[in-house]
Amino acid sequence: MIGSPDTSVRLLQVTDPHLFGDETRKIYGVTTAVSLRKVLAEAFAPGTPRPAAILVTGDVADDHSAAAYDNFRRALRPYDVPVFCLPGNHDEPGLMVDLVDGDGFQYGGTAVFGAWGAVFIDTHVPGRPEGRVEQKELSRLELALQAFGDRPILVCLHHPPLSVGSAWLDGVGLRNAKELLAVIERYPTVRAVLGGHVHQEFERRHGHSLVLATPSTCAQFTPLTEHCVMDLRPPGYRWLELLPDGQVRTEVRWLQDWEVADRPPDDRF
Ligand SMILES: [Fe+2]
Repeated sequence: MIGSPDTSVRLLQVTDPHLFGDETRKIYGVTTAVSLRKVLAEAFAPGTPRPAAILVTGDVADDHSAAAYDNFRRALRPYDVPVFCLPGNHDEPGLMVDLVDGDGFQYGGTAVFGAWGAVFIDTHVPGRPEGRVEQKELSRLELALQAFGDRPILVCLHHPPLSVGSAWLDGVGLRNAKELLAVIERYPTVRAVLGGHVHQEFERRHGHSLVLATPSTCAQFTPLTEHCVMDLRPPGYRWLELLPDGQVRTEVRWLQDWEVADRPPDDRF
């Protein structure tokens, strides 16, 4: 267990870092290794309460390289906080299970954060940008929800299960969101669903669950657009506080130490 069941647990979410083996590489004008390091430096700045764990909701690597995952571990390790990872559409689950599991890192599975249970879901579809929760994962989720009993639950995954109102992003969303939501709706203990993928801030209540998505630690997409339009907002991250009574307090932060020089190209996601 991380934290204590009697007190709230503070977590840091970073998502979609899109790292490369070559740490000088950029997407949309952003050097992803630099922006991730700046996010971590700000989140762990002196005077800021330390998180009990870091949640990384996918798109860790952009170039399918083992070196990108090594770079990820190297960027996170100095903070000496347990890191929980799951795969995004850009990731290679076969590499992640070897390279980001063990020695302070966990790939997939479940966790206990104070009074809460957490389940990390794989939505990766090989070679495709959209997501899918395979039957095996759905069954694992349901078994975990049963095993956690009365605990409030945080479900983490890459592709959010709700429309974000951008036609192009919804087109690469979670294909069988209805099936996942049907499971979640049967378990009132599921109080929060936390994702990435959409590179923007998103928060919507769905029944008993708060569905959240979080800006990337690199480049952002403009909300509510039909086609991909990059957003000039800085890298972002999210704080979560899981209260023992099942409430969640959360806020997105945008990196302060950041300058966007030029509008980056809009031709890639
Ligand atoms: Fe991404």
